[in-house]
Amino acid sequence: MQTVLTKSPLEAAEYIKRGGTAAFPTETVYGLGADLLNENAISKIFEAKQRPADNPMIAHISNTGQIVVVASEITANARKFIETFFPGPLTIILPKSAGVPLLATAGLETIGVRMPRNETAQAFLTACGMPVAAPSANISGRPSPTAWEAVYEDLNGRIDCILQSDVTEIGLESTVVDCTSEVPMILRPGAVSLEQLQAIIPETRFYENAHYEMPRSPGLKHEHYAPAAKVVLIGSALNIQSSESQAFIGLDKPDVEFNLMKICASVEEYASAFFAFFRECDSRNIETIFCQKVAETGLGIALMDRLKRAAAR
Ligand code: TXA
Ligand code: MG
Repeated sequence: MQTVLTKSPLEAAEYIKRGGTAAFPTETVYGLGADLLNENAISKIFEAKQRPADNPMIAHISNTGQIVVVASEITANARKFIETFFPGPLTIILPKSAGVPLLATAGLETIGVRMPRNETAQAFLTACGMPVAAPSANISGRPSPTAWEAVYEDLNGRIDCILQSDVTEIGLESTVVDCTSEVPMILRPGAVSLEQLQAIIPETRFYENAHYEMPRSPGLKHEHYAPAAKVVLIGSALNIQSSESQAFIGLDKPDVEFNLMKICASVEEYASAFFAFFRECDSRNIETIFCQKVAETGLGIALMDRLKRAAAR
């Protein structure tokens, strides 16, 4: 398959309308899109990404009017979050509508809905004129793509089109919040923080895996976000011998020098840089990446979640 590169949202949307696949930018990471209501198109996403069949997709919409196409009910909690955070980096889980194929939701009767705020994403989704299923545009298990070049690295020859745009602004995935039950539960931390959600609905809390037999967000049990290199989380004091095959990313300059190192000015910059840094380390055959821990508040919770997953591998 030849993968077409384009800067035109209209051209990229044509592939979706014809039942094909197109990667597109959002404010979080690049997504790999296909027509949500077309089972054959959805199967192409699973194949291209080598995604496990039990990992459901998020429905991306261009306007709130499309929510009724994908969800059978908009709960009162969901309504409040939609008013405040759409468009933006928040995915809301709702009961799915009958028209959404079970292949897209991996057999679940619920569906994640998200309206990106990135301008190119909006132009693309508007041109598609339909809800677009889109997981992150990486091979399953690899670091999420924050640049179109990272999409190309993983999926060239496996998808129809890549909509080329800038490096993504936030750099880690959306917050996923389940609004199907009385108390909203965060299934995946992201750019919209617990504190921001609690300001709208104070009862909102993190979902505790231990309370349930089955993980609520199937994607969380799969290997995620991991570079080929070993990831080691460290505090501020660094007692290590640096070598050629090691790299460092964090907020403070370490006492030892690394050939490859990135010092970030803020947690925001760290969050937007680490996925690309992981990929660069892999391309340079780095064996160990030292990642400095950050305080687990605000965006730091989402960043630490991704770093811990990468380190747990
Ligand atoms: O920022 C993002 O959310 C990006 C961009 C492209 O929008 N997308 C993304 O998709 O990260 P993906 O497929 O890589 O991650 C979706 C997460 C997975 O952990 C999945 O299990 C969970 O959302 N999820 C999707 N639908 C769900 C559902 N019905 N119930 C529970 N969890 C769901
Ligand atoms: Mg993903």
